[in-house]
Amino acid sequence: MLRRRDETEVLDRQLAWIRVGHSSAQVLRGEAGIGKTALLEHVAARASECRVARAVGVQSEMELAFAGVHQLCGPMLDGLDGLPVPQRDALCVAFGLQDGDAPDRFMVALAVLSLLAATTEERPLVCLIDDAQWLDRASRQVLAFVARRLRSERIAIFLTVREGGASDEFAGLPQLVVVGLTDSDARVLLSAEIRGRLDGRVNDRIVAEARGNPLALLELAHGMTPLSSPAGSGSRLQDHSRARSSSASCGAWSRFRSRPNSCCWSQQPSPSVMFRCFGALRSTSPFPPTCSCRPRSQV
Ligand SMILES: Nc1ncnc2c1ncn2[C@@H]1O[C@H](COP(=O)(O)OP(=O)(O)OP(=O)(O)O)[C@@H](O)[C@H]1O
Ligand SMILES: [Mg+2]
Repeated sequence: MLRRRDETEVLDRQLAWIRVGHSSAQVLRGEAGIGKTALLEHVAARASECRVARAVGVQSEMELAFAGVHQLCGPMLDGLDGLPVPQRDALCVAFGLQDGDAPDRFMVALAVLSLLAATTEERPLVCLIDDAQWLDRASRQVLAFVARRLRSERIAIFLTVREGGASDEFAGLPQLVVVGLTDSDARVLLSAEIRGRLDGRVNDRIVAEARGNPLALLELAHGMTPLSSPAGSGSRLQDHSRARSSSASCGAWSRFRSRPNSCCWSQQPSPSVMFRCFGALRSTSPFPPTCSCRPRSQV
């Protein structure tokens, strides 16, 4: 992974902070594919002397109250007996371990805070919560409450939120906006993904179109367009593309999606044609005879 100095410094500071007896919470916010999960993995790699707990927002579980908190706390349930009785009862009902009326969310939130704190006697706790925009609402409320109440428990909570996703609950927490890679880092990533030499103009155009988004760079480097890529990665790139298309400042990305058949080597090669050439360029150098496109002046 290319080191993102600014972002990783913020995250590393927070890990240092919990090692000396404090707590912290951090929301990492950014568009699809910009590298939020990669930064969470950086935290995980640096947190070897901490206990690490994880949860991932899942769209299909958004209607299931407390599903996200259940993911996070599931491995800690042997600590339930140490909780004050009202908190334990609330959490047990929320997790379906006990009968009862729908639990008070405040009580569940207190119980989660107590449960997390109880794990930190031996070592600090790092909670990594990815795609928090897809957590069920009850879990978002509980986790935001817990994050706001942290004091000296030696707990760090890191949440990633995709730009535009449901996340009002986290608004008051410290936010780190994850932006695109610098041009030079984008070029390093691109060249690491490509075997063989890439025509300089194609290279420039890919870097310009991706605007530092690592997912876009990687997908383009693999020669896929949003229209032809496989379902999994394609849907993420389409999310990214949608986000980009909605941004008035990114006409290029929209053009990429809306002009699939224009011709190569015009003054401004269209992105889709660029991909066609690029696909041919990937394995050979110099410019391969298999590319039938010509500069517009020669057509
Ligand atoms: N700094 C980096 N260096 C190299 N590759 C990176 C870097 N950041 C992200 N990537 C790669 O880019 C792709 C997208 O990154 P990631 O999954 O972290 O994005 P994301 O912001 O979590 O997207 P989403 O909102 O879809 O979850 C991944 O394949 C990841 O490995
Ligand atoms: Mg992610």
